Amino acid sequence: MFQELKPADYQPVLPSDLRYGIGFVGCGNIVLRSQMPAYKRAGYRVVACCDMMVEKARNIAANFDSPLVTPNVEELVAHPEVDIVDLAVHAHQRLPLVEQIAAAGKHIFSQKPLAPSLQEAERIVDICRDAGVTLMVNQQARWAPPHRALRLLAERGVLGHVYAVTHIYRAYQDYGWYAEHEDFNIVDHGIHYIDLSRYFTGHTPLRVKATTTMTPGQNAVSPMIYTILLEYEPAHEVMSTLHFNNIVSAPALYDHHWYLDGTHGSALLSNPMGEATLSVSFKDSPEQAQTFEIAGTWGYEGFAGSMGEMLRAMEEGREPACSGRDNLDSIRMAVAAVESSNTGESVELRG
Ligand SMILES: NC(=O)c1ccc[n+]([C@@H]2O[C@H](COP(=O)([O-])OP(=O)(O)OC[C@H]3O[C@@H](n4cnc5c(N)ncnc54)[C@H](O)[C@@H]3O)[C@@H](O)[C@H]2O)c1
Repeated sequence: MFQELKPADYQPVLPSDLRYGIGFVGCGNIVLRSQMPAYKRAGYRVVACCDMMVEKARNIAANFDSPLVTPNVEELVAHPEVDIVDLAVHAHQRLPLVEQIAAAGKHIFSQKPLAPSLQEAERIVDICRDAGVTLMVNQQARWAPPHRALRLLAERGVLGHVYAVTHIYRAYQDYGWYAEHEDFNIVDHGIHYIDLSRYFTGHTPLRVKATTTMTPGQNAVSPMIYTILLEYEPAHEVMSTLHFNNIVSAPALYDHHWYLDGTHGSALLSNPMGEATLSVSFKDSPEQAQTFEIAGTWGYEGFAGSMGEMLRAMEEGREPACSGRDNLDSIRMAVAAVESSNTGESVELRG
């Protein structure tokens, strides 16, 4: 039986060097609910807050040590204490801001999705490369302890060869800006799970096939349910299935699971955004399963760990994990899934 799963093995190591100054551009919901509380607890140095609705910037700034508050991005990038701009506007608003921030020589930590299209995402990566600034995308799910614990099992070979990665998520976001943004469920929210499929398998697929449907009376402009099938190099001997029904009108039947199936055993991660549990069961003792409670959350370690990776990468002078360049593969998969669901055909990934 598998005995060992210690928090120290799967919790992200947060940086001790907190010299870099962070400036938020966009102080909306994600900053208010997730980034601000996580950065505050981790002791990160927030030195400027910018939102065109200046009250929102003021509200975030009140949680830190007297940062600059401004509605103007020009003023934020001119602030000498800002080393990293945490770009928390919507994907379709990012490109002109990236041009402005990179031209000022500031490093960029971008919310996901990096851009609504692959062309725009590639342009953003090129702009940052040409300006010599670091670009990281906040795929914070990769730093969330539940996902790190699950990946650890695959990395350590505990499950044998992992041949199937399966995601099942049932929730409801048929309201607000989620409903207004085209292809939100795949390209915006769903990019977390698409990116995690790369994290768990260690591979980017060759081919993407997706199915979606509109549902009667829905508010959203695009489908809020998908199933995505990912096909890899035959030599990798793995397949992924991602199912996200984000328009479930019966909350009692919400659900969130990842399964990894391997040649030696299987793992089930339940409730990765809340009080997560990880169960494992093995071929050599099929009647038994062990369940571990995971220490740490998507909300704190996820967000603090992701920015922590940016800070550590800057300190160590290296490219961060989830760099803009790396993230292009996740965007490529998401837009391929949209194309596949529109055409009914599998889409080959190139580049
Ligand atoms: N990582 C995650 O898990 C996660 C979760 C939710 C949202 N997000 C992402 O975060 C981004 C923002 O989402 P949100 O829910 O916070 O949206 P939001 O609408 O609540 O906030 C966006 C803010 O940006 C401000 N803004 C827009 N353009 C600006 C500009 N030029 N200058 C200054 N301020 C500007 C707006 O006034 C608004 O306050 C989206 O890309 C979304 O996908 C990520």
